[in-house]
Amino acid sequence: MSDRDMMNCTEKGILVLPETDSTNTYTKELARRGAAHGTAVLALRQTGGRGRMGRSFISPEKGLYMSVLLRPDCPAELLPTLTPCAAVAVHRALCRTCGVTAEIKWPNDLVVNGRKLCGILTEGVAGFDGKLSAVIGIGVNLNTNTEDFPRELQDTVITVRELTGRETRICELADSIYEELVTVYARWLKGDESLRAEYRELCVSLGRDIFVLRNGESLPARALDIGEDYSLLAEFADGHRESIRFGEVSIRPIA
Ligand code: BTN
Repeated sequence: MSDRDMMNCTEKGILVLPETDSTNTYTKELARRGAAHGTAVLALRQTGGRGRMGRSFISPEKGLYMSVLLRPDCPAELLPTLTPCAAVAVHRALCRTCGVTAEIKWPNDLVVNGRKLCGILTEGVAGFDGKLSAVIGIGVNLNTNTEDFPRELQDTVITVRELTGRETRICELADSIYEELVTVYARWLKGDESLRAEYRELCVSLGRDIFVLRNGESLPARALDIGEDYSLLAEFADGHRESIRFGEVSIRPIA
């Protein structure tokens, strides 16, 4: 990390990099070197953005790519429940700053009319003390256009600029997401039950027919409810019910 990189920060103290491979990778490295809880990194462009399930996350210029380091002192199995909380925080920030009302597609995509506006990737990282922390990576299609994405994604994405007809300052939305994340995180720490209720309210997957991707197969099911651990309770075609904690669901069969 050069001194020049260290100079640019948003009002909330988010470090702004002109470019990096992945803000999650960068923030994990800071975490390994002892960075404090709340450290946040924003990049104007990512050359190796990463998504869930080992996918890449296409990160053209004018999008918002940020990662936040959270160091809760909690059992490792609770860390994945920070991801849905981050989705609530991004939802709130998008409403407040851009006037955009997105819904959450379980577990952690924000969508408008079924098109993806934001993806979230939470990764664990161990510090010198051996304790596991979480890096929450957030990618928002902000001032980009659908045409900036590969052709095969163009029918599935949407951008804030397309929804609002204007550009939003990247640092303004990043600061707003950061602020909301701080508030939502405090509720998460207290085990505030209203947070899960808020997530459930925003979750567009509920009550819908879905496909669950498992062992390369798309299994038809119905999404029923959100569990205490933010798992998705699904009823499969043969009538059995399961709480799905990880993985992928879709409203279309998954190729
Ligand atoms: C997904 O949609 O599967 C999750 C995408 C997460 C993308 C963000 S962009 C900032 C951070 N850095 C990354 O490499 N990934 C996350």
